[in-house]
Amino acid sequence: RMPILEQCYNLMDFEAVAKRVMKKTAWAYYSSGADDEITLRENHSAFHKIWFRPRILVNVEKIDLSTTMLGTKVSIPFYVTATALGKLGNPEGEVVLTRGARKHNVIQMIPTLASCSFDEICDEREGDQVQWLQLYVNKDRAITKRIIEHAEKRGCKGLFITVDAPQLGRREKDMRSKFSDVGSNVQNTGGDNVDRSQGAARAISSFIDPALCWEDIPWFLSVTKMPILLKGVQRVEDVIRAISAGVQGVVLSNHGGRQLDFARSGIEVLAEVMPELRRLGLDNKIEIYIDGGIRRATDIIKALCLGATGVGIGRPFLYAMSAYGLPGVDRAMQLLKDEMEMNMRLIGASSIDQLDPSMIDTRGLSMH
Ligand code: FNR
Repeated sequence: RMPILEQCYNLMDFEAVAKRVMKKTAWAYYSSGADDEITLRENHSAFHKIWFRPRILVNVEKIDLSTTMLGTKVSIPFYVTATALGKLGNPEGEVVLTRGARKHNVIQMIPTLASCSFDEICDEREGDQVQWLQLYVNKDRAITKRIIEHAEKRGCKGLFITVDAPQLGRREKDMRSKFSDVGSNVQNTGGDNVDRSQGAARAISSFIDPALCWEDIPWFLSVTKMPILLKGVQRVEDVIRAISAGVQGVVLSNHGGRQLDFARSGIEVLAEVMPELRRLGLDNKIEIYIDGGIRRATDIIKALCLGATGVGIGRPFLYAMSAYGLPGVDRAMQLLKDEMEMNMRLIGASSIDQLDPSMIDTRGLSMH
């Protein structure tokens, strides 16, 4: 029998249910990683190489999980990251995530390749709820300019340019499932022809410009006042270059293991980046986020100890939404909050600013 929602006790439980209830093609698209899925698996297991050095005898009666990301106060330092094709898992699509994010006062990053239209997802917002936009850059810059200007007009508070996908990775599980209903599930691609023989991902991505390069960054800065961030950075040299280029943040990410197999996990890259930025006095010049494999509040805490401003979470909310709709997303977020509060107590930190590198032992990471 299928577990009822109350029997999901952690984020992994939603994945198990989703695997059983989702259509095979949808499951293949959401769960797949590139090639041998080594990076996909590493994303979560990398967190297992970091251990805590808790402080004792700290007053942890009251725990404050709130923090600020790109100027927005949020209730807990994670955001719902951009994942394409929400309607594959739930007929209502990304607006379900908008509602969950609102309830928990967290930010949602809207994907360029959402199933709902961009305006539908904005319209779902209430009050001072905040959304960001994930941008795939079109070969036709006029289209990209229109998307950016429209997002700014609709109140988006951050522009995340995806830089790890000049070509979509080979996700063989997805390719084998011979994806057939792409057209009805995506908008905003700029109306190009869809080749369905290569799986969902490749079918919808042919508009993405592989010529995008550093020289384009000034143009992005000139067309919007939104903060610009690069999503998919993998090395400290590029973080430093991003700072000189004038962007406000980076996401250390490997696209959920869906692009370059053997790209390192976000947490591993973070452990490389932060000490070097501190050494150069650059750590306050830019906001650093990571995503990939975050399933437990302890994963979030480890990233914050290393110096991340916040983390993105993708698949767990897709699975929760696919298995149980909004109540699933709501419960997944609440579980994370409960886990976070307890583990902050146990590590000896009553607020986010008390988390620091001394509270973790990173000697197990491969670089040390
Ligand atoms: C993604 N991701 C992604 N990233 C992006 O920049 N544009 C996109 O359209 C998508 N689409 C997408 C679809 C699906 C089904 C997944 C699972 C992921 C990558 C995403 O933003 C993020 O980097 C990872 O999902 C983070 O890893 P976890 O939390 O899924 O392990």
